[in-house]
Amino acid sequence: MAGKLKIRVDQDKCQGHARCKSLAPELFELDEFGNAHEVGDGSVPAGLEDKAWLAQSNCPEIAIEVTEE
Ligand code: F3S
Repeated sequence: MAGKLKIRVDQDKCQGHARCKSLAPELFELDEFGNAHEVGDGSVPAGLEDKAWLAQSNCPEIAIEVTEE
């Protein structure tokens, strides 16, 4: 069985482009500065794996890490 995915937004890199939020609103939330944070502990619910990879590949700052647990 494939491991569960986990996402993390690097706050030093995130510049608030918000593509992650529009592509995967279930996985990212924006703070008052417009920077993204992973929802909850960053665990990707089953079925949303593709969105996690899509968000990662669309972040212009390469701020999103996706790891397999
Ligand atoms: Fe930040 Fe990248 Fe999302 S810059 S707001 S993590 S698209």
